[in-house]
Amino acid sequence: MTRVGMAKARAIEDIDPTPLHPIMRAVGLEKDYLLPDRTIIRVLNDISFDVAEGEFIVLTGQSGCGKTTLLRILMGLMPASQGDLLVRGERVKGCDHRRAMVFQAAELLPWRTAVGNVELGLETQGVPKAERRATAERLLDLVGLEQAHHKRPDQMSGGMRQRVGLARALAVDPDILLMDEPFGALDAHTREALQAELLRLHEEMRKTIIFVTHDLDEAVLLADRVFVLSPVGTLADVIEVPIPRPRGEPEELRTKKAFVDTRYKIWRSMKSMEGMTRPRVTADEGDAP
Ligand SMILES: Nc1ncnc2c1ncn2[C@@H]1O[C@H](COP(=O)(O)OP(=O)(O)OP(=O)(O)O)[C@@H](O)[C@H]1O
Ligand SMILES: [Mg+2]
Repeated sequence: MTRVGMAKARAIEDIDPTPLHPIMRAVGLEKDYLLPDRTIIRVLNDISFDVAEGEFIVLTGQSGCGKTTLLRILMGLMPASQGDLLVRGERVKGCDHRRAMVFQAAELLPWRTAVGNVELGLETQGVPKAERRATAERLLDLVGLEQAHHKRPDQMSGGMRQRVGLARALAVDPDILLMDEPFGALDAHTREALQAELLRLHEEMRKTIIFVTHDLDEAVLLADRVFVLSPVGTLADVIEVPIPRPRGEPEELRTKKAFVDTRYKIWRSMKSMEGMTRPRVTADEGDAP
């Protein structure tokens, strides 16, 4: 019998508590979806990794390979079907303030100003109004929106909305920032400005970041390590980016051998997996997710 949801042999207790004390540890994560035609697809397949404190991880892979699914599990928005996820050694049971997410479209509340949107996460934490306001204003300044504190989303450009989304995520002072193609919908110029902004924030705040992108230039520019997911949802490759920080001018960086070589490595990894397809199992043969 094919058991899609079969328990993995490896449990977190079997793993040596590493001397590196990773901020995040995934062990054998799997995710199965039950489709309306009663077939099950395994979207994520035995994914294990460690992320060190302050590391910048870029997650890439072809469309539909499971990047958003993995990010949502890392955020605690939904559980994995199998496997363990730990943050600072504690098992993740749902969302909490240690992780914040930035989405492709910032998804701001349209009736609230920039300040009001950034205050949102702090309201749910019961932070007093004056303190909330001060934090929101400081973070909006930090992301370059000094002039836009009182604008509503319909009065902002796409780049401004993404900056508000980033400030909102930073407001709860998370240890880990999860970003799902946050610059994907922006024009090239705004995108470059926000990449530079994010690199600067990462230098200053040393937050751990897990960032999804399809863009290989963006991956090499931002990442310490690039995780490549295969079309069958395995973590196929982990590629180090051997470029020191601060990274400097993107245009100059793109001409450097280390940049070109790393970009080519990622491209080759993805190319080698083209055409792989996920097996489907009928629900009666396996476990429902
Ligand atoms: N709730 C769901 N139910 C069933 N299948 C789903 C569900 N969510 C996602 N999928 C499927 O899981 C696979 C992975 O989806 P996911 O959105 O994680 O991919 P992705 O790598 O983020 O893709 P993209 O690059 O296009 O954003 C896809 O085949 C998708 O159709
Ligand atoms: Mg996605």
